[in-house]
Amino acid sequence: MTDNLFKTNEEELLKTVAHLAKERQAVILAHYYCPPEVHRAAHFVGDSLGLSQEAARNEAKVIIFCGVHFMAETASILCPEKTVVLADFEAGCPMADMVSAKDLEDRKKELSAVPVLTYVNSSAAVKALSDICCTSANVVAVLRSLDSPTILMTPDKNLAQYAQKLVPEKKVITWPGFCPTHHRLNLKEITALKEAHPKAEVLAHPECQPKILAIADFIGSTSGIIKRCQESSSKEFIILTEEGVLYPIKKQNPDKIFYTPQTPMVCPNMKKNSLIDIVKALETLTPIIKVPEEIRLKALRAVEKMLAVPRD
Ligand code: 13P
Ligand code: SF4
Repeated sequence: MTDNLFKTNEEELLKTVAHLAKERQAVILAHYYCPPEVHRAAHFVGDSLGLSQEAARNEAKVIIFCGVHFMAETASILCPEKTVVLADFEAGCPMADMVSAKDLEDRKKELSAVPVLTYVNSSAAVKALSDICCTSANVVAVLRSLDSPTILMTPDKNLAQYAQKLVPEKKVITWPGFCPTHHRLNLKEITALKEAHPKAEVLAHPECQPKILAIADFIGSTSGIIKRCQESSSKEFIILTEEGVLYPIKKQNPDKIFYTPQTPMVCPNMKKNSLIDIVKALETLTPIIKVPEEIRLKALRAVEKMLAVPRD
């Protein structure tokens, strides 16, 4: 009964969202880690690279962003003429908060001419101080594209160590940031999960610690992991990234089996995005995310340089 009530509410809210989006000429973009009902409401669901590209390509005047703060900022950097609204203003990224513009400025002074490669999980002010950006989908290609033999990579030390392993000809200086949702995975637990399901392919996001990546069969961005589930001939998988990816994965692969760690991998910030938030955002066109022009122009250079790097 309660389930049905929720379902009815969900269907009603989805109709309201579709109606308002049309009225506002808005496009709804959502990251894979958002709750399933938000996937259903969105016009486009993607990883951070795909969402930036879609924001730039889409012709809608209004972007309702379901994700976290830095993602909406990236859309604002790329499309200053559009109204970018973050569905839930409280949705931030703790990893992005692990590097401030002031700390990066100080570190740059210490390292003098070393170029800075910054993960898109960062503020616009930090991007503005960086030479180039990357996402988990293009980090290796971006690192290889740089001329300098030494690079400072912020803020994710796990992503930096993963890239360093694949591009040994460069010296990567790491920053001590990490994603709490991925970093907390316990090697003992994952090894036991692997032993319990020896036929399962282990798919991990590069934000996991090196010791976890060392026992993975495949390492990729959220969209990379989703694609792998479809393309692999394996029938069982252990998924080591935020559980939001399971909604598209299970829909696309009804005959395959998916295992996850016992303590669920949940990003509390991504889960803040709700259908009610989307309705409110469409009704009020707030909260608007707008990057100040001086910062935007500098950050744009770093983001555009990244987008110009051909994928491997
Ligand atoms: P993707 O770029 O793989 O979508 O990851 C974004 C993110 O926040 C991972 O925690
Ligand atoms: Fe940030 Fe981690 Fe959440 Fe991704 S999963 S948005 S890196 S806290």
